[in-house]
Amino acid sequence: MNIEIRSESLDQLPCSALVAFGLEPSPASTGTVERLPAETRAALEELQASRELKGKLYECTLVHNPAGVKAGKLLIVGAGKKEKFKAGHLRRLAGCAVRYLRARGVRDAAWVLGPGTTLADDAQAVVEGAILADYDADCYRSERENDYRMDRFGLAGVDAESSSRCAAAAARGEILARAQNFTRDLVNEPGNRMTPTLLAQRAQEMTGRCGLECQVLGTKEMEELKMGALLAVAQGSEEPAQLIVVRYDPPEAPAAPVVALIGKGITFDSGGISIKPSENMHEMKTDMAGGATMLGVMQAVAQLRPKVRVLAVIPATENMPSGKAARPGDVVTAMSGKTIEILNTDAEGRMVLADALCYAKQLGSTVLIDAATLTGAVTIALGNITTGVFGWNQEWVGRVLASAAAAGERMWQLPVDEEYRDLYKSTIADLANTGGRYGSAIVGAMFVGEFAGDTPWVHLDIAGTRWANEERPYQAKGPTGHGVRTLVHLLTHLAA
Ligand code: BES
Ligand code: MN
Ligand code: ZN
Repeated sequence: MNIEIRSESLDQLPCSALVAFGLEPSPASTGTVERLPAETRAALEELQASRELKGKLYECTLVHNPAGVKAGKLLIVGAGKKEKFKAGHLRRLAGCAVRYLRARGVRDAAWVLGPGTTLADDAQAVVEGAILADYDADCYRSERENDYRMDRFGLAGVDAESSSRCAAAAARGEILARAQNFTRDLVNEPGNRMTPTLLAQRAQEMTGRCGLECQVLGTKEMEELKMGALLAVAQGSEEPAQLIVVRYDPPEAPAAPVVALIGKGITFDSGGISIKPSENMHEMKTDMAGGATMLGVMQAVAQLRPKVRVLAVIPATENMPSGKAARPGDVVTAMSGKTIEILNTDAEGRMVLADALCYAKQLGSTVLIDAATLTGAVTIALGNITTGVFGWNQEWVGRVLASAAAAGERMWQLPVDEEYRDLYKSTIADLANTGGRYGSAIVGAMFVGEFAGDTPWVHLDIAGTRWANEERPYQAKGPTGHGVRTLVHLLTHLAA
């Protein structure tokens, strides 16, 4: 899909479909429909009078051969109630238009931007929404159901004065959405096509393409580093573990902060000896979503080039049962020197993160941010809609939450508190890797946090948000790439 700024006047713009949105209760006259020629709006008034056009959120009304414009079709997307409308909705409205039009064979659409000072921000959101909506998960279907992607997506109604600002914003939106789709591609791959080795290869492909540094450590190096927690998870698998490190070190950036992005990279989580029930076990191919998120962020960072030092550390391994697998009750020593009693081999994410955080600190990070599909419990608390955010350092937690709001991703802080520490005490070692059913998202987070020490740390539990269980008007069923835009926003605004 090519993104273009279309400078023709709206009535003269040649394209298959022109798209505007209308607000309840008067979608023929409120919204970007206001910018359409009077003749075109008159026809919409008729549709509104006959109640064919209501303006309900994501309602799509397609007008063929519309009066007053050159475009072959006019799509009016319902934007919901006027008083509830926010600029952030634009992303989804644009997405909704793309999915609706694609399904009807339209390959060349132009979105009418609203007038006003937010034009550039609007342009970015619309481009993001369009590219994200043009994604589908059926990459291994011989005949792809949605093999009719959009070729051209235009931004229309941009005056000469704002044209270059809009083009820059559209380019930013394109970088963000393509990075998020890259993350989705990685998450979507099944375990046989996304082993730790293949994940490391994909990371190297991306970094080669974007001019970043990538280093991959193997089992021997991890042994030398005494990564006993990570290796305890890896030891049950035939596939060798990989520790992926990506560096972005712009010479013009200040020495601090050095932000480490640590992503859980379990390419398949069977649960190990504490094996999971077979129902839905296939979903555990997505257990490297945290790592994929960080690779998507690094791709965008390489292209946007903010003046801030960033480091991604991705511990990649399978979690499998075998004669060599760790047993419940085993005690291992993490890289930090802390001993861990493995009460449940299915609580493997916090084990690999423990050593990855420790290594990130050794590499000189001054802030640690991790993303992980860590617990089923966070999906019980927040569903598939909202990412759980944890951390002791309220300043950094606040920064992440503010970026999430700005980037249009739902995130919500859950507590950490000393009182929960009793839950993961061990009778034999420094820590136990589980604390039972109660507060299990908090326990998982705090276990990881034990390895951050005094370094500011924020944990994102994306177990729920990594995957959309249902198709939405603006989004395919499948991997979401949730978290990428928030972290890129954070890094680019740190630098500014
Ligand atoms: N990868 C899972 C968490 C998960 C569940 C991700 C559902 C995505 C969807 C994680 O490794 C896990 O198994 N967590 C356990 C921890 C428990 C054993 C303390 C859980 O949440 O049940
Ligand atoms: Mn698990
Ligand atoms: Zn897991």
